[in-house]
Amino acid sequence: MIESDTLDKTKIPKHIAIIMDGNGRWARSKGLPRAAGHKAGVEAIREIVRASSDMGIGYLTVYAFSTENWTRPKEEVSTLFSLLLIYLDKEINDIHSNNVRLNIIGDYQKLSNNITKKITKSLELTKNNTGLVFNIALNYGSRDEMVGMVKKIYDLIKNSDIEQDDINYELIESLFYTKGIPDPDLVIRTSGELRISNFLLPQIAYSELWFTDVLWPDFRKEHLIEAIISYQKRRRRYGGIEAEENNEG
Ligand code: FPP
Repeated sequence: MIESDTLDKTKIPKHIAIIMDGNGRWARSKGLPRAAGHKAGVEAIREIVRASSDMGIGYLTVYAFSTENWTRPKEEVSTLFSLLLIYLDKEINDIHSNNVRLNIIGDYQKLSNNITKKITKSLELTKNNTGLVFNIALNYGSRDEMVGMVKKIYDLIKNSDIEQDDINYELIESLFYTKGIPDPDLVIRTSGELRISNFLLPQIAYSELWFTDVLWPDFRKEHLIEAIISYQKRRRRYGGIEAEENNEG
């Protein structure tokens, strides 16, 4: 079992974003209904939130429900939201006592009343916490976020708050759901799929990517550590060249 003391404490990623995938396949492999896969997926979330908080990670973002997930059967959509409600009911006190701050990215205001109410209460309870920021992407899609951003810029210009020359990436990112959150350093996707699926597209322009065949319900702290070890071996260049090369001659 890989332990977190094998990690270089000076190079812990500030922000890890996870595309949790494979709940359905996990359930099918066990002859269980898809809902059982999602339920087991919540257990994995619980462990990874705790592990991230213990390791001193600043931000953890999980892709829980995308703007495209509405095309799933109604029953499955309703299972996912019930699981979210149960999760918040059962876990929010633990989250709070671990100094974790909950945050939601995505158009969650459009969700049903009982969900928005529960979310608002949970956000309020944890808002002054100073440890891990646990971001749940809910009714989130990067293209939807971009459309929203363009609409806001249109309004700013229309109301003469800004001029065309004021438009730069700094302004653009301040109009995303992720405002104030540093870009992910590391993106993890489980279940062997090699896609990004409309997740934080501009924000992950320079993120390191890590893919695993492990299905999300089987994802544990040791896999998170494996991903971070891989991340720590990489040289991030952000489009530049290696520092040593830069100093040559
Ligand atoms: C991917 O598996 C998983 C999801 C789309 C949903 C993840 C949501 C939860 C685990 C529950 C609710 C969230 C919280 C934050 C408590 P898949 O269904 O796409 O799997 P498959 O590709 O194998 O079919």
